[in-house]
This record gives sequence, C-alpha cells and structure tokens, in this order.
Amino acid sequence: MRVLAICGSLRKGSYNRSLLRAAAGLAPAGMEVEVVGIEGVPLFSEDLEKEGMPEAVAELRLKGKAADGILFGCPEYNYGIPGPLKNAFDWLSRSHGEPRTPFLGRPVAIMGASLSMMGTARAQLQLRQSLQACGALTMPSPEVYVMRAQDKFDAGGQLTDKPTHEAVAKLMTAFGAWIDKLKG
Ligand SMILES: Cc1cc2nc3c(=O)[nH]c(=O)nc-3n(C[C@H](O)[C@H](O)[C@H](O)COP(=O)(O)O)c2cc1C
Repeated sequence: MRVLAICGSLRKGSYNRSLLRAAAGLAPAGMEVEVVGIEGVPLFSEDLEKEGMPEAVAELRLKGKAADGILFGCPEYNYGIPGPLKNAFDWLSRSHGEPRTPFLGRPVAIMGASLSMMGTARAQLQLRQSLQACGALTMPSPEVYVMRAQDKFDAGGQLTDKPTHEAVAKLMTAFGAWIDKLKG
C-alpha cells in the first residue's frame, strides 16, 4: 500500500515535514510513505491553467493518483490553511478533463503541527471542508493535533515526544485500515 504525504509548508525546518517523516517511520507493515513538498507550484489562475498543467502540479497529481491514500501535513496560519497549501490543493482539485482528481473517492488523512496550543485544529477543519468539496473520503478519526511543536521535535527534526509518537502511530495504523476498508 502506498501513501503520498504532502507537506503543506515551504519552510526548510518545517515541523510538519518532520511530522510526516515521523509518520513514515511509524507506518504499519506493508505501507510505504513518500513525503513530498509543494515547492514550485505556481499561484493558481484559471488563465494559467488553460496554458497547461505546470510541471510541479503534474508531478504531484501523478503521484497522488498512483497512491492508495493521501496524507496531509497541515500547518496553520492565522487560524486557517496556509496560502501555499490551499493554492496547491486548488491546483490538485481540478479535473483537467479526467473523470477523477487525486481526491474524488480517495482515502485521505490529515495531521498537523503548530506552535500554539491549538495544534492546527482550525486549519485542519478548513482542510476537511475543502476535501469534502472534492469528494474525498477523509478519515474522521483519530486526529493528530501537535501543539507546541517547538517542544516535541529536537533540533534535527526528530520527533522526541512519546505521546505524540503514539498518537501518530495510531493514526497511521487506522489510516491503513481505512484504505483497506475503502478498497473493499
Ligand atoms: C503568517 C503566520 C501565521 C501564523 N498563524 C498561526 C496560527 O494561527 N496558529 C498557530 O498555531 N500557529 C501560527 N503560526 C505559527 C506556525 O505554527 C509556525 O510558523 C509553524 O512552524 C508553521 O509550520 P511549519 O513548521 O511546518 O512551517 C503562524 C505563523 C505565520 C508565519
């Protein structure tokens, strides 16, 4: 089973990328996780879209379609989805003449890390709503909200907090089961 893990932050030392890497290491047996970024995705415009799919979008889209499930590492900016992630999401939500986007009818899971005590809860809710608009089958629970991320990772980006470790492992196991269930 293959999972594409999309990091919603462009920051070099991103906690959300570190979180996804930890998730990859905690994936259940038989699940392979590829962590990717959204670097190089241009600002969406329907005019630009008419000119063709930008390379970075095409690559993400192909990887998303080839995966059995998609996992988001969702940061939070100003109580919501950061612009770069929403922008990449909007590109991926377009059908480009095909019957399916990477989201329609597809298993999706979300986790996120932020500096505040809210642990991206507000941004994750917004992302859930946008995924619903695209017909994604987003796993309802367990949820992972990593609050005060600055206390949960070491300087090298390793997840050092045991309860977070356990919560991430639990989500990954549940996501494997969610994917299996939806494959029927
Ligand atoms: C413009 C901006 C707005 C932010 N707003 C929030 C916020 O609403 N809630 C929050 O928990 N953290 C907020 N933060 C702090 C982020 O949690 C922090 O920058 C975090 O490191 C971003 O995730 P990353 O490490 O994956 O890049 C904000 C940061 C920026 C730059």
